[in-house]
Amino acid sequence: MCGIIGVTGAGDALDILLDGLERLEYRGYDSAGIALIDSSDIYRVRVADGTHSVSILREQTKDAPPGCVTGIGHTRWATHGQPNELNAHPHLDCAGDIALIHNGIIENYAELAAEMVASGHTLASHTDTEVLPHLIEECLLTSDGLVEAVRKALEKVRGAFAIGVVSLAEPDLIVAARRISPLIVGTAGNASFLASDIPALLERTRDLVVVEDDQIVELRPGSVKITDLEGNPVTPRPLVVEWDVEAAQKDGYDDFMTKEMNEQPRVIADTMRGRVESSGRIFLDQLDLSREELASITKVSIVACGSSYHAGLVAKYAFERWARLPVDVDIASEFRYRDPVLDSNTLVIGVSQSGETVDSLQAMRQAKQSNARVVVVSNVVDSSMAREADGVLYTRAGPEIGVAATKTVLAQIIALELLALRMAQVRGTLAEGAVAEVVSELWSLEGTVQEALARDEDVAAVARELVDARDFFFLGRHAGFPTALEGALKLKEISYLHAEGYPAGELKHGPLAVIEPGCVVVAVATGGEMKEKILSNVSEVKARGATVVLVAEDGDTQAASLADYLLMVPRTSTLLSPVKDIVPLQQLAYHLARNRGLDVDRPRNLAKTVTVE
Ligand code: F6R
Repeated sequence: MCGIIGVTGAGDALDILLDGLERLEYRGYDSAGIALIDSSDIYRVRVADGTHSVSILREQTKDAPPGCVTGIGHTRWATHGQPNELNAHPHLDCAGDIALIHNGIIENYAELAAEMVASGHTLASHTDTEVLPHLIEECLLTSDGLVEAVRKALEKVRGAFAIGVVSLAEPDLIVAARRISPLIVGTAGNASFLASDIPALLERTRDLVVVEDDQIVELRPGSVKITDLEGNPVTPRPLVVEWDVEAAQKDGYDDFMTKEMNEQPRVIADTMRGRVESSGRIFLDQLDLSREELASITKVSIVACGSSYHAGLVAKYAFERWARLPVDVDIASEFRYRDPVLDSNTLVIGVSQSGETVDSLQAMRQAKQSNARVVVVSNVVDSSMAREADGVLYTRAGPEIGVAATKTVLAQIIALELLALRMAQVRGTLAEGAVAEVVSELWSLEGTVQEALARDEDVAAVARELVDARDFFFLGRHAGFPTALEGALKLKEISYLHAEGYPAGELKHGPLAVIEPGCVVVAVATGGEMKEKILSNVSEVKARGATVVLVAEDGDTQAASLADYLLMVPRTSTLLSPVKDIVPLQQLAYHLARNRGLDVDRPRNLAKTVTVE
């Protein structure tokens, strides 16, 4: 997830770009860059300095050539290639005559890059993006100008993109295009603008239109022309913006947590993008473990903290069922201080959104000393854990600003399940047809989660009914157990209410004693395999006077008859059920916290990244 901006026709293009990039930093901040069309050159500056990137970029462009009217800018959240200056956008072609910014993921970049190198191009970075200016340079040889060249180039591209391209040969023109990744364009007087999001442009214009998938835009001073890929004109969809900049950064939602929950469908698709080949082979690009190395693994050990630990617990069921591998899942701060039995045939998977959590980092280092193969599932490219691991699987969720993990947890589950499927393929423990079925369900989760999110008002109504409750038990069995743990953690951290997650079958071994009227039991009663059993556990708490909230699947009348309140979710297979069952639990925590007037983005006593023991 990156932020892009472009302007042509304004006397102060550089200021517009820098101001816009500041407004876009919430989309990514590991590096930033701009390119301006000067009279005979493309002036380009790129900075990779984390959260300071845009302010340093402002410093470093103080001596930019004055009076440039056309330029593009980018703020990056890396998905391919380290967050360094070399990989920062804009990227150039070989001649340095074309500059390009990109938000998205080019799925077939490896094959396109090989094609470009074979045609004599030199690629300087490790990004998926850089192939695009070279492809456009190549297409220009047989095209009548930049617009046609971009159109031809995009015919070859698979994946998600919003791009802005400038060329020295047509100095007033920016060509933009979109597939999946967001893009808006607009005008004000003689200036025309493009951006990934509204906040970048709000101070310049509210005369905006949304570019749709597979549309190409020609931005010239004061004019914007939108066509489809074949060149046919299209009628643009105007965008009515009533937000201020802060509301726009939150996409109009009240807070980042809601925005990030609503990004979950996109994040699921992005985490899969380019990793499942049409042949059905799972291709985990940066994992860096050969088929032989994967085949030699006899045990998996997952280490993580907090919500990432819950994602690891969900994955355990998939590794065991699909790949028939024994799996331990440990809380990193415990793993560090026991004496785990690891060897070179153990695959240790560190799961960490930030990649900086000190307990997870230390656990990973300890595992390396035992000669285990260590891989990391992280949301931050080049984080400490990513740098030190033997291989990485990035979650591509984009920056998560709310302290409570939401979209990154779902992305971790998807990434881990892809890895479990890959292991199953290598070990031959799952028939190709069965792999294809899981892959197809994984793709469908984008829509399933969208549907779950759309039921927010039903969850809000339940939260209103529970406004006086102070004690919550979250119960689940099988894959529903980590879901219950995650539901309890979300509720605790943002609402400050007492909540415990428990395996439902353990209830009668102690916790049942505290169940009494006034207690709320939230039970995850999905996942066909264990449903009967969990419903019988629910009867036990109901008989003791607890208020019962059930997460149940559409059409489940049996669950409906037991519940005081229902949180209905779409149906899925058991192993993938946490991906959608977590959603109403996030929403429940959210509404209970908001009803108590709390700041859901910044819960007390907590930090987004925990770098102390
Ligand atoms: C919960 C939450 C924390 C993190 C934990 C691990 O909502 O955000 O429990 O999951 O601190 O952080 P990472 O994944 O960065 O290692």
